[in-house]
Amino acid sequence: MISQVLVPLTLAGVVLGSPSFNVKRQITDLRKSYDFIIAGAGTTGLTVADRLSAAFPDRTVLVVEYGDFDEAPGTFDPPGSPPPAPSFAYSPAVPGINNRTAALRVGRTVGGSSAVNGQFFDRGSRHDYDDWQALASPSPQNGIKWDWDGLLPYFKKSVTFVEPTEEQVADFGITWDFDAAYGGSTPIFSTWPPFQWPAARTDYPELYFASVFFMWLANWLTISVTTRNAWIEAGVAPRKECAAGDKDGICWVPTSQYPDAVNRSHAGRGHYLELDKRANYDLLVNHKVTRVVYPGRGHHLRSPPAVEIRSLDSGKVSTANAKLEVAMPWLAKC
Ligand SMILES: *[C@@H]1O[C@H](CO)[C@@H](O)[C@H](O)[C@H]1NC(C)=O
Ligand SMILES: *[C@@H]1O[C@H](CO)[C@@H](O)[C@H](O)[C@H]1NC(C)=O
Repeated sequence: MISQVLVPLTLAGVVLGSPSFNVKRQITDLRKSYDFIIAGAGTTGLTVADRLSAAFPDRTVLVVEYGDFDEAPGTFDPPGSPPPAPSFAYSPAVPGINNRTAALRVGRTVGGSSAVNGQFFDRGSRHDYDDWQALASPSPQNGIKWDWDGLLPYFKKSVTFVEPTEEQVADFGITWDFDAAYGGSTPIFSTWPPFQWPAARTDYPELYFASVFFMWLANWLTISVTTRNAWIEAGVAPRKECAAGDKDGICWVPTSQYPDAVNRSHAGRGHYLELDKRANYDLLVNHKVTRVVYPGRGHHLRSPPAVEIRSLDSGKVSTANAKLEVAMPWLAKC
């Protein structure tokens, strides 16, 4: 297993390591050109890179990532752990709420935000995606609609969901609906840990208050089974499954973790670190994609673009050439 060469430096709060295959730290280490270049080693970028490099062994794939390998403890690991360092905190002013700001963590590491969150494996509600589709483009793109019904098959495909044990169900009353929400078989795992917090966690009071507004979140994170029952007694409707399009109410949210090892499962591990060596899959870390440069006018479709890349260490800007396609999953999120 590739991951065995990771060097744990847990005392520093951060584990930095890298797999033995195809990690590049300098532009000069890259091949002359790649068939596919992908900007960003997050959930989308690494999933696409994994699938492309497996489907086309004769084609080369490069992923360019701003961050590095990092296994810093998650936000909700034992008290005293440092917060996850490898993330950006965006805090834009939101006009709809009097220009107040909200902190939002965006992963800056191999694995992207799937590696730095609180290990929730979660989705929005149907209306979130339907509104998104309405805003983005009213007509289907290439036959795919980016609304709930269009995305649900891909949500289902994205994860291997492992049902809780009979004991967990007996102890905590966990509910889920496999057919409505899951069914995929991928190297990303979602399940429940074999324990629940015994009581409200006073070490994260802000999360407790946030949970009043996000009741679906309250259950796993800060509040015990007793408190869950109190919400239900207070009239908050329990839901069998919140990842199936309707998450108003209170429900059991699974976590992104390996079922046996009870450790974090994320795109950086599943779609890169734990793959068997693949000669056609390179990953450049600590570099930022600054622009995509199209050679010549009117040739967008015929001439693949060059990707401009800046080294975060030296500031040096270089270009990498794609023979076939450039994918910029992060643009879709802006
Ligand atoms: C929010 O900020 C914008 C841009 O600075 C400003 O035009 C607007 O008046 C502000 N809104 C409120 C409610 O302060
Ligand atoms: C977590 O567990 C999986 C499955 O046993 C293992 O492959 C992986 O190396 C573990 N990750 C860490 C960071 O220990």
